[in-house]
Amino acid sequence: MAGARRAQQMALDSRLGIPLIFAGDVIHGLKTIFPVPLAEASSFDPVLAQRTARAMAIEATAAGLHLTFAPMADVARDQRWGRVVEGAGEDVTLTALLSAARVRGFQTRDLRRDDSLLACPKHFAAYGAVAAGLEYGSVDISDETLRETHLPPFGSSFAAGALTTMAAFSEINGVPATADRALLTDLLRGEMGFRGFVFSDYTADEELIAHGFAEDERDAARLAVLAGVDMSMQSGLYIRYLPELVKTGAVPMATVDVAVRRILYVKAAMGLFENPWRSLDAETEARNIATPAHRALAREAAARSVVLLQNDGVLPIDPDKARRIALIGPFGEDKDNLYGPWAFYGDPGKGVDIASGLRAALPDPGKLTVVRGSSIHEAIEGGIAEAVKAAKAADVVLLALGEAQDMSGEAQSRTTIEIPAAQQALADAVAATGKPVVVLLRHGRALALHEGVANANAVLATWFLGSESGHAIADILLGKVDPSGKLPVSFPWESGQEPFFYDRKSTGRPVLGQGSTEYKARYATTDNSARYPFGHGLSYTRFALDKLELSDAALRWDKSIDVSVRVINKGPRKGSEVVQLYIRDRVASRTRPIRELKHMERVTLDPGGNRTVRFALSRADLEFVGAGNRRIAEPGLFDLWVGQSSVDGLHTQITLYAEEPSRA
Ligand code: BGC
Repeated sequence: MAGARRAQQMALDSRLGIPLIFAGDVIHGLKTIFPVPLAEASSFDPVLAQRTARAMAIEATAAGLHLTFAPMADVARDQRWGRVVEGAGEDVTLTALLSAARVRGFQTRDLRRDDSLLACPKHFAAYGAVAAGLEYGSVDISDETLRETHLPPFGSSFAAGALTTMAAFSEINGVPATADRALLTDLLRGEMGFRGFVFSDYTADEELIAHGFAEDERDAARLAVLAGVDMSMQSGLYIRYLPELVKTGAVPMATVDVAVRRILYVKAAMGLFENPWRSLDAETEARNIATPAHRALAREAAARSVVLLQNDGVLPIDPDKARRIALIGPFGEDKDNLYGPWAFYGDPGKGVDIASGLRAALPDPGKLTVVRGSSIHEAIEGGIAEAVKAAKAADVVLLALGEAQDMSGEAQSRTTIEIPAAQQALADAVAATGKPVVVLLRHGRALALHEGVANANAVLATWFLGSESGHAIADILLGKVDPSGKLPVSFPWESGQEPFFYDRKSTGRPVLGQGSTEYKARYATTDNSARYPFGHGLSYTRFALDKLELSDAALRWDKSIDVSVRVINKGPRKGSEVVQLYIRDRVASRTRPIRELKHMERVTLDPGGNRTVRFALSRADLEFVGAGNRRIAEPGLFDLWVGQSSVDGLHTQITLYAEEPSRA
């Protein structure tokens, strides 16, 4: 804070007196660490995303920041890519909704507020589409897929008020994004109407040389500024080369003027000229950071981020039955892997681990035994034997396994998305005891699960849940909170299925029903389906859907229809379900995915309760990017499902009718 105040004073005292803008990566929290974005996406709830973003903004601005390099609006369809953890998963609709919600939460409607934190949706564009999930890799993509899958979350973020974006490190179709004028100027500004400014991603301008696109640093600076990168983040190339580039005429002065004007426009929009000291007040810093209210929100968000993948009834654990619990695995008593890979400012050691959370929640903490059994990557001597002994002495085993926090995030692409072998061996040995096992997965991506893990009595996706991890996990395990998360990424059977996502194409030889799979679109060794599909997530209660009704099965061109469905809580407890509406265009001029999520709604019901959920469906929901990159809807038949995941649901069909010729 003192350093920032000094820097601001120097800027104000300089020739032009233009205030500085302070930016940092507050991705899922400053001091109070909220669940990683992928985890929070499991809530399928934009309202929650907006609330946590607001809390992060309050802390970040109190600490002196004006701008965060978030949200990551990249749709991520390959789980080998480590940055899956930073976004909202594999689906375009969910990513678009959550990215926009985060922008609204960071900024509010009023950018001049002291606690408004400017957002920077990144990385423009299609960064999540790097070939084979290799970080910084190349993207080769059709114009249609770029527009249909990768741009909408940026569009919704800009519509929500975001005034900056960041060019991706990667190249698209042979041109690095940082030097791509067609992308950063024609498409971003011309087609999408973006009015703010563009950052380079770190040293991406300098990296144009290694890409084989720029001759040297000078050439790299020239290409980047001409393409539409307004601010160079880290390399210093603009400071070093722009004066000379302008002097020699290699870069028109007007280009620099435009970039400067865009940056000044953003500074003016946030009121920085009138109030250069906003966010630089030590008292606000002391008052607004790591507050009990933010901690409570972190606990709520963490519990809402947990996905119950399977459960044979072992959960919830009744705390009053005073059962003996063995907590086994490297993440049971571990504060180093709670936050996730992007929590620079969080205080290590201030998070609650699983053992501490359980001890605080159990009526008799003495009934809990904690055994490590294995380290994250390697076996420990005698570890398995000790774990097996603890398992045998317990009534129920909690197995805390998965990825270290530095196994996902930037530059953490992996060829297999599995639990490290040492931990798998531990899980298999514990499973062999025959005791009921609950697996608590720690992870920043979807995983391919096997044997002792996959066959456990219950499996929970618990990601990286942040400061309140242990409390939230205890809330779920002991049934204080009903699990209600839904998967934002498909869990495949095997790593080799990646990239795997639910809204894939049919192919000419789809596997249908129970028939022979010979010469069908599948792997010789594995069905090309998911172990746990996108949208899947169980509850301790049981929901059923019925009475799927349409106001009209015929959708007229400029009208909408109502789709309604009744949700019933048929189980013994209060709980929440996310009702999901999917469509499929049966025949189109460009083949369409087997399903596409279009709407969702979260419903909370008491036991025996029911509610009718209504969705308005219009032509816009049926559009896709067709020839000439135009969004079009084509008249004809559409399947429609309303369900509890991307592979189930009540089914019906609707027909879109062409625009009626106007009668002149
Ligand atoms: C990442 C960006 C991040 C930047 C600044 C880069 O390596 O790709 O997402 O905002 O560093 O920390």
